[in-house]
Amino acid sequence: MAVRRLAPKELQPASFAFSEENLAWAKAQIAKYPEGRQASAVIPILWRAQEQNGGWTSEAAIRVVADMLDMPYIRVFEVATFYTMFQLQPVGKKAHVQVCGTTPCMLRGAGDLIAACKHRIHHDPFHLSADGNFSWEEVECLGSCVNAPMVMIWKDTYEDLTKESFEKVLDGFAADNPPKPGPQNGRQFASPITGLTTLKGDGAADKKS
Ligand code: FES
Repeated sequence: MAVRRLAPKELQPASFAFSEENLAWAKAQIAKYPEGRQASAVIPILWRAQEQNGGWTSEAAIRVVADMLDMPYIRVFEVATFYTMFQLQPVGKKAHVQVCGTTPCMLRGAGDLIAACKHRIHHDPFHLSADGNFSWEEVECLGSCVNAPMVMIWKDTYEDLTKESFEKVLDGFAADNPPKPGPQNGRQFASPITGLTTLKGDGAADKKS
């Protein structure tokens, strides 16, 4: 995993303020927790701040969220730098691709997906493509191992990928027409691609004679 630091000063916006709609949403999240436990809302509120900020979390946003939750800045900074769901520098405008590089995905072809990212986006992770529309990184297991290999883009996962189907996913984002999330090989969720393989009888074996 790459070292996780805030983006350099020259990339940091001077300020951050929630939109009216997001502020109302954030207040509703905070109200879910008992008095004195508002810090429990830090992850969803920081995530909403990231979404509003073009997909990355700025220092100004961290400070605003900390003030809202009455938390020391360092505590929110710790959250933002610990979880890879928080991007600490500008990401691609159309897609930031998180490629799972943990063992099951690697065994099932994640290396091909990483090679495609290097070829198509940038040789190095956390760098913008030439048009500024894409960026990528390798992350640890994202919990879809049964559908390996997979990537996450924004909130959605794209699974059961091959190099070709992954290229199509990227094409979709480039054309502002992303494909349906989930398996990209036609199967439903994690059901067998070959169709039903068990429980095919009439249940006779289970009937008492
Ligand atoms: S190993 Fe890739 S999702 Fe778990």
